[in-house]
Amino acid sequence: MTPFAYLKNTEKQRLEELFTFLEFPSVSAKSEHKKDLNNCAKWLSAHLKKIGFTSKVMPTGGHPVVYAEYMVDKSKPTILYYGHYDVQPPEPLDLWKSQPFKPEVRAGYIYARGATDDKGQTFCHIKGLESVIKTTGTLPVNVKFLIEGEEETHSENLPKFIRKNKTMLKADIVVVSDTAQFSRTIPAVTFGLRGIASTEVFVYGPKRDVHSGSFGGAIANPVNVLCSMVAQLHKSDGSIAIPGFYSKVKKPTAWERKQFKKLPFKESAYKKALGISALHGEKGFTTLERSWIRPTLDVNGITGGYQGEGAKTIIPSYASCKITMRLVPDMDPKDICNKLEKFLKKIAPKSVRIKVDKHGGAKGVNVPTDGPWLDAAAEAIKIGFGVGPVFMKEGGSIPIVGDFKEILGLDTLLIGFGQNDDNIHSPNERFRIRDFERGCKTAAALPDTLAKVK
Ligand code: BES
Ligand code: MN
Ligand code: MN
Repeated sequence: MTPFAYLKNTEKQRLEELFTFLEFPSVSAKSEHKKDLNNCAKWLSAHLKKIGFTSKVMPTGGHPVVYAEYMVDKSKPTILYYGHYDVQPPEPLDLWKSQPFKPEVRAGYIYARGATDDKGQTFCHIKGLESVIKTTGTLPVNVKFLIEGEEETHSENLPKFIRKNKTMLKADIVVVSDTAQFSRTIPAVTFGLRGIASTEVFVYGPKRDVHSGSFGGAIANPVNVLCSMVAQLHKSDGSIAIPGFYSKVKKPTAWERKQFKKLPFKESAYKKALGISALHGEKGFTTLERSWIRPTLDVNGITGGYQGEGAKTIIPSYASCKITMRLVPDMDPKDICNKLEKFLKKIAPKSVRIKVDKHGGAKGVNVPTDGPWLDAAAEAIKIGFGVGPVFMKEGGSIPIVGDFKEILGLDTLLIGFGQNDDNIHSPNERFRIRDFERGCKTAAALPDTLAKVK
């Protein structure tokens, strides 16, 4: 039997197993789910063992890592597959058509939190490799799996884990499927990701909420102040006003611009899919450039004052917001956070006190745009999808990819099986069954194409 025939024969069971994986509410951001993350890791490790891997759940300073190995021959290349079994919080729950941790198939899609990001995509590789092992009795390459539980919370403990386990993780190339294809008909290899710098800003006013009639007009309102400060972070041309923000940002290269221009991007379809009537962004850049290779600053959430039913006439005591900035390669997250803090403190009126908490960060990465590994990935995609990939970048971040290069000296192949409209981080996250199948096929073809490299 061929691996593809095996995949076909096991289609139903494969979907059921993915459903079991998706049923764990492995939300890394919330401490109440600690047990669920542990159980999910245990299930995953046991599943890898059933396929023929040696595997263990390994502790970190946070949620555990699932590690697995299938070693065949020292002279063959070693592939390190990375993925994450943790997921984003599912809220707001009332916007889900079916429950986030009760997977359901509707109109050719699997709906569940983690369906695409990243359980479904990681599972493609597990099942693709299984199809090769079960039909040929072995693999043409050595395989290592590193599947973590803290990607959605900045992979805070993983760099240390990698440093401690350098020998165990020794490999020739990393494979990650945690991105998207360009479109439903155009698969892609991604050659760069943006980084991220995360902060939370607090504005403190009077030591308690006070009557807005008695005190309004005489003291600063922290919510008003925060809004005004946030409004000053961008200039009217869409660029970011923080001094020095762009000092490390390189102009897009001619090659990059050419790749992007080749892609069949339709502004009208993009707007329609999002339900917006006009686009917005930095002057002088296309939409793809704005979302892939330019740094950004966004408020992810803002709070303060009374938000319950009816009216409450107060000047709130404090206000806060979460700000993340997407970075391009060479920008340093710490440096950018410091620059934001300095700017906010400079523009803040004396009437309030400002505190800026600096959370995790990750550098943007570029991965090679040519060479034998990339050719091998493109060949496997051609087999799995029936059509070769385009080259693109992505605006999202996978924090550990930069560390693979810095700590292990390894390049990464970013082979996305998802779609831009899979609703990742959003209600009704989904994975198209067709993409799951094509992902599994690509994953089944990849060991053979990679084996030819070394
Ligand atoms: N899979 C995404 C990264 C991604 C998103 C790549 C969209 C390409 C397109 C990943 O799970 C993710 O969401 N990363 C976070 C990292 C952050 C929490 C440090 C992100 O980008 O917000
Ligand atoms: Mn992901
Ligand atoms: Mn994610």
